Amino acid sequence: MSPGNVEEEYRRLVEEIQNCTKCRLYKTRRNPVPGEGPVTAHVMIVGEAPGRNEDMQGRPFVGAAGQLLTRLLELAGLKREEVYITNIVKCRPPGNRDPQDDEVEACLPYLLRQIQLIKPRLIIAVGRHAARRLLELAGHRWHSMTTQHGKVYEGVIAGVRLKIAVTYHPAAALYKPPLRNKLEEDFKGPIARVVAEIGK
Ligand code: URA
Repeated sequence: MSPGNVEEEYRRLVEEIQNCTKCRLYKTRRNPVPGEGPVTAHVMIVGEAPGRNEDMQGRPFVGAAGQLLTRLLELAGLKREEVYITNIVKCRPPGNRDPQDDEVEACLPYLLRQIQLIKPRLIIAVGRHAARRLLELAGHRWHSMTTQHGKVYEGVIAGVRLKIAVTYHPAAALYKPPLRNKLEEDFKGPIARVVAEIGK
């Protein structure tokens, strides 16, 4: 696909997400949050779902967890503007509850199309919802964040060969400060090494 066609397809995809009614979340959301960043990015961040701030602004990771994510990315040698940021579920679950399995499945085709268009070399899955589903798609087993954070897996998703790095959700470190060290170590260590290998 030529770069112009990728841009055009991407615009179409964003429009579909903005008009989506495929699951119950469209009834309570203010704004869908498709994602943001260059379609040429080599690194994609996949989080859980928009929170209150993201729902108000229609942009991913703009609240406190987003500020922490920006600092963590810097530890891996990445600037926020260089990466593509999205979520496994594009609309805010009411009261920030966990996304339900049927909501994740209804929304998954959008993420698969984003992966197909952007062709990231590395996906950083933050939090168990994104990590579990992405690892399963790539043919790996999900056990737990405690045993799998900091690990990097390889696989093919939506026809794209890529690496998946698993780490905690930055919001978890805001509630449980000891997790912040683990997140920092994951970004400074294994994630930084993959970034250096694949380029930005
Ligand atoms: N948490 C997420 O998982 N995604 C966001 O966009 C914001 C907070």
